[in-house]
Amino acid sequence: EKGTYPHYMLKETDEQPLVIRKIIQKYQDEQGNLAIDQEIVDAVNGSDRIYIVACGTSYHAGLVGKQLIEKMAGIPVEVHVASEFGYNLPLLPEKPLFIFISQSGETADSRAVLVAVKELGHKALTITNVPGSTLSREADYTLLLHAGPEIAVASTKAYTAQIAVLSILADVVAKTRGRADNLNLVKELGIVANAMEVLCDSKEEMDYIAREYLSFTRNCFFIGRGMDFYVGLEGALKLKEISYIQAEGFAGGELKHGTIALIEEGTPVIALATQENVNLSIRGNVKEVAARGANPCIISMKGLDMEEDRFVIPAVHELLTPLVSVVPMQLIAYYAALHRDCDVDKPRNLAKSVTVE
Ligand code: F6R
Repeated sequence: EKGTYPHYMLKETDEQPLVIRKIIQKYQDEQGNLAIDQEIVDAVNGSDRIYIVACGTSYHAGLVGKQLIEKMAGIPVEVHVASEFGYNLPLLPEKPLFIFISQSGETADSRAVLVAVKELGHKALTITNVPGSTLSREADYTLLLHAGPEIAVASTKAYTAQIAVLSILADVVAKTRGRADNLNLVKELGIVANAMEVLCDSKEEMDYIAREYLSFTRNCFFIGRGMDFYVGLEGALKLKEISYIQAEGFAGGELKHGTIALIEEGTPVIALATQENVNLSIRGNVKEVAARGANPCIISMKGLDMEEDRFVIPAVHELLTPLVSVVPMQLIAYYAALHRDCDVDKPRNLAKSVTVE
């Protein structure tokens, strides 16, 4: 089933452009407009606050989802790690809607929260890759990812599929609220799929970056602001889980409040710069770490790029940048793990589906 691929992770990373196109197709009506079941749209519109609950990579997709739903549809969203939420329920508004994001649909921590909020009488929507999974069956509504089976323990195409589906949900709801903002999401997601293809063809460069920055290091930092911060968190998780390098994602501005003490001569710092409003400030943060000896690797987006950048991603709509900026993160983690002779598809201590609390 891996075909010519040495690992499922590489195959699944490469499948991402196809998955985006499949999602567009699955969520289009006969007229070619994006569509979501009316009862789901009504549930979103009827809620005064959305709670996204998830774990790991799916939680990172939820952070992006918050931005999409708030900026596009104008509904406030909170994002919570399931294992924390379950024991410390926040003060809820009158009409909360819960969105569970789970590739497998079987994650016990997320299920525990679903059971608790159902008991309180609240509505829940599950976004999952697996039809008929526990979280899908037990929620009121389901949106499917259509990503095809994800076999590698490290999640790749499920993350981008989750963000794509969240963007469609945000867009469809936005239109019912007269907040279309002239965004042609079908077209923009098409541009994303094309950009992903270019990135999947950039494996040699990613291999070089991994070799140059990560072959011998003990640790690595990922920094960014806004969307780039969220993708940095995901980049760090990918790197630590498959290469066992201690990696942390940080908000660029937060470094100087403590973490910058960890920067030593040669510490790799991967910085993402895809957001116009913070382009100069994240570059300022790069200068701060470089002045303390760090080895910065700036990955930017076309149009915001500068001479010192190590790699430039093709331009996409600024709300959709995580869909493309995560691809270099996935590939850099993959090659770093290969260079360190790690078992990419089955990292130590981890299981694909975490069905215990
Ligand atoms: C990381 C990874 C995990 C999962 C997490 C949630 O690569 O795969 O962090 O994202 O265990 O799993 P799901 O999405 O199945 O609920």
